[in-house]
Amino acid sequence: MGFYDDRILPRLIDVTCGASLIDPLRKRVTAGLHGDVVEIGFGSGLNVPFYPAAVEKISAVEPADIGWRLAGKRVAESAVPIERSGLDGQSLPFDDDTFDSALSTFTLCTIPDVMAALQEVRRVLKPGGTLHFVEHGIAPDPSVQRWQRRLEPIQKRVAGGCHLTRDTAQLVTDAGFELIEVDSFYQHGTPRPYGAATVGVGRTGS
Ligand SMILES: C[S@@+](CC[C@H](N)C(=O)[O-])C[C@H]1O[C@@H](n2cnc3c(N)ncnc32)[C@H](O)[C@@H]1O
Repeated sequence: MGFYDDRILPRLIDVTCGASLIDPLRKRVTAGLHGDVVEIGFGSGLNVPFYPAAVEKISAVEPADIGWRLAGKRVAESAVPIERSGLDGQSLPFDDDTFDSALSTFTLCTIPDVMAALQEVRRVLKPGGTLHFVEHGIAPDPSVQRWQRRLEPIQKRVAGGCHLTRDTAQLVTDAGFELIEVDSFYQHGTPRPYGAATVGVGRTGS
């Protein structure tokens, strides 16, 4: 990792992803999480205030040391125990059938081999376990998609490999999850190429 990705970007993410207009989405996507939860792309812990009381433990997977450091206060004040337990969503250091739920917020856009990460999440979830996700991705409108394709090379450079054109719901389905909730929309207050969002829940077979 270079200086920008290593030292600057996690701070930028903490500020941009910490915008209060995203809070309702965090509240929505974390609803229903319970028991032992793995969160991939934990970042600076912006979901911590939203974990429901039914969550017993969070295993945080996050490569960026600065992100984890920025999460310090949130982790310390959390009612739920949180442990940094892994560094890469593409290769999770957990046994099969370990977790009740998984969480990914604005992370599947960035992980290089997103299918590997989704298959790892499915592997470590118990049968019937759920992946809760909110991600930005491919827009429904061709005119917005054209802008996303133009902007994506720059986005990848300045935002740590972040893609604008991934179809999250399709990827989750292709990884073998059954989509039990899905809702796609443009996030209010965000330019459309960046604000085409999908929130959903995928379940592993029981
Ligand atoms: C846009 S940030 C989102 C952070 C946080 N989930 C949030 O909602 O604020 C993307 C996060 O994915 C992390 N990330 C990048 N590559 C990853 C990988 N291979 N496995 C797990 N996390 C990764 C980044 O370090 C960063 O914290």
